[in-house]
Amino acid sequence: MFLRRNWYVAALASELSERPIARTILGEHVAMYRNSSGQIVAVADTCPHRGYPLSLGTVVGDVLVCGYHGFTFDCGGICVAVPGQDRIPSRLSVRAYSLVEQGCWVWIWMGHGEADLSKLPATPWMTDTDNWSVVSGVAKIDAAFGLLVDNLLDLSHETFLHNGSIGTPEVATTPIEVEVDDESRVVNVYRHMANVECPPFYSDTTGLKGKVDRWQDIEYFPPGFYKLNSRIAPVGEPPLPDGSDAHAFHMKIFYGLTPSTETSVYDFWALSRDFCVGDDAVDRFLEKMQVAVVQEDVDALNILQQRINEGQELTEVSVKIDRGGLVARHMLAQLGEHEVTRLH
Ligand code: FES
Ligand SMILES: [Fe+2]
Repeated sequence: MFLRRNWYVAALASELSERPIARTILGEHVAMYRNSSGQIVAVADTCPHRGYPLSLGTVVGDVLVCGYHGFTFDCGGICVAVPGQDRIPSRLSVRAYSLVEQGCWVWIWMGHGEADLSKLPATPWMTDTDNWSVVSGVAKIDAAFGLLVDNLLDLSHETFLHNGSIGTPEVATTPIEVEVDDESRVVNVYRHMANVECPPFYSDTTGLKGKVDRWQDIEYFPPGFYKLNSRIAPVGEPPLPDGSDAHAFHMKIFYGLTPSTETSVYDFWALSRDFCVGDDAVDRFLEKMQVAVVQEDVDALNILQQRINEGQELTEVSVKIDRGGLVARHMLAQLGEHEVTRLH
């Protein structure tokens, strides 16, 4: 079951152009494009005439023309032209989805009815480009959404799966603290590492060599948004009592977790950093590293899902490092119950 009454990342802003793209989100085929006025549009990717994917059509000005028989739809999904006749049957419109572009990500509201803008995650670090540089990407994983949640809520796997880029021994050996805010529905997982090796991901970009203090503060907003607040600082230099922290290097590592089908998920990512702002070489370096890190996760989760598909009985023995993931599962289950209650 999908949690529909939520915002999910649907595309990178850079992916939307006058060439439509197709995505399956929460089991629904969606076509997305940017029209000639620059407006972003998402409609059901199934032409109501004979079912051809509208994403295979052509954007002409502000409308989308189906690639099969030329039925034409405006950005609200209303059919505005049918070849060979003036009358347009009223049932010829398609569902239009609400989209919001925020920096490098485009969000989609998957609930029926009015989109709830109060639930849209705030991402000022993606739009404040004077103070933050951003790189972004997306990968598709042939694994259930829940496997990606488990993966992101327990970063101890960095030590083993991402050894050599972001993983160092201390990530796995440093205990975590987990806090749950039931009111605002956020799962926080803190891991503060003192006087530890600086992995290449950070040493090659911050210039800090040798030992550092490294904080990983996760905020997970179920179901679809995850923010890892990473802080790298010289050893023994915490933020000042007034909260200012100019001597440290900060990176926000965002993930948009967007279920595609029951057994596949889009893994959108973005890195916003407050150092080397505007430095293209650092952008390219981080992008390359992150693509490799994400691929390691993709490969691991694909293998787990294959085992599940083979019918292997999933046995789990949870330990302390799993607390964040278990709490997240619990919150997702609660959200599921809440959504079911709303529907009845
Ligand atoms: S299927 Fe789209 S116009 Fe016929
Ligand atoms: Fe990972």
